[in-house]
Amino acid sequence: MADSDLYIGLISGTSVDGVDCALIRFDDNQPEIVDTHFLEIDPALKQRILNLCSGNKINLGLLGEVDIEIGCLFASAVNHLLDKSQTASAAIKAIGSHGQTVWHQPEGDHPFTLQIGDPNTIAELTGITTVADFRRRDLTAGGQGAPLAPLLHRNCFASKVTDRVIINIGGISNITVLPADGKCFAFDTGPGNVLMDYWINKNHGRSFDVNGDWARTGTITSELLSRLSAESYLSLPHPKSTGRELFNGEWLEGHLGIAPGISEVDVQATLLEFTATTIVSSVLASLTPEQAFVCGGGAHNSYLIDRLQALLLECTVNTTSKLGIDPDWVEATAFAWMARETLAGRKIDTSPFTGAASPVFLGGIYQA
Ligand SMILES: Nc1ncnc2c1ncn2[C@@H]1O[C@H](COP(=O)(O)OP(=O)(O)OP(=O)(O)O)[C@@H](O)[C@H]1O
Ligand SMILES: [Mg+2]
Repeated sequence: MADSDLYIGLISGTSVDGVDCALIRFDDNQPEIVDTHFLEIDPALKQRILNLCSGNKINLGLLGEVDIEIGCLFASAVNHLLDKSQTASAAIKAIGSHGQTVWHQPEGDHPFTLQIGDPNTIAELTGITTVADFRRRDLTAGGQGAPLAPLLHRNCFASKVTDRVIINIGGISNITVLPADGKCFAFDTGPGNVLMDYWINKNHGRSFDVNGDWARTGTITSELLSRLSAESYLSLPHPKSTGRELFNGEWLEGHLGIAPGISEVDVQATLLEFTATTIVSSVLASLTPEQAFVCGGGAHNSYLIDRLQALLLECTVNTTSKLGIDPDWVEATAFAWMARETLAGRKIDTSPFTGAASPVFLGGIYQA
């Protein structure tokens, strides 16, 4: 019965902008967004999270405290959403909580990925069974542990007649290639908003460049663009995934150090073009799509969308709203969907997206 098939998806992404919390009703396997709540992360907590993400020396006390603090924050987002939508916690089958990634290292002898936001705290403070820690089982099955949102893209956005691509532009960007023949795959293309956010924050103290308005007034510097584009991650074959461990302020400053004298606004224009060209070259190396649909916060960056449309020529560029899911809530919806699969005892075939060797149960279950 539809009414009882309610789940909540929770995530704070690599941009560390805030907590996305979405109440989702499933009709069969198709999600419908019932209500949403976005809870901003305050600057002090954001700084503590970024310290953990920096890879600099940290102490375990800080890691443990922030783990609990994020768990409390996620739980309060859920409780607020339940109040707002006048839904009883007992009506929710489960929360799917992605948590906050603080480190993602899918290669090497001991690959690992770490998402914090204690699920025990979330289950206890909400009274709702919580599924969390979605990525680590995939890693142990030989996958990258990421990207996982393409699982929902495959489920909801694929067409049997049109070659499509879904472009998620969060802190990092990933594409999901959905050809009409069903042979889908996905990978992280490189930076989404993370470098643009860093640069405008450093120069203007703002957390992001609204609509890309600042970048639009600058001039793209081809020399800087080619230097950034020489990054070896970009030419790796998929499956592949990346994060702030690679694309961060230090990485950018290293490149700028070699070519000083570029004006601040021209750097911003070049960073936006870097995001657009890395996405588009990944798309075109994968297929020639008829339709592209953008989701994630980058969908609001109208200059970035203009550049994607210009570079993708014949392909129409829209947001996922056109396919029935608001671009701001696709990821939260994806983790609600994954929680539902896991709770139902279904393994998921992540292999086209993460490279895992066999289907896996995603996430651990923390009973209410
Ligand atoms: N109006 C806007 N104009 C330009 N950029 C925007 C706008 N709104 C949001 N953004 C960008 O989107 C970012 C947030 O996007 P999103 O929440 O999808 O990223 P995320 O939380 O890092 O997700 P992911 O897990 O996919 O990395 C902001 O940091 C900002 O750069
Ligand atoms: Mg976000």
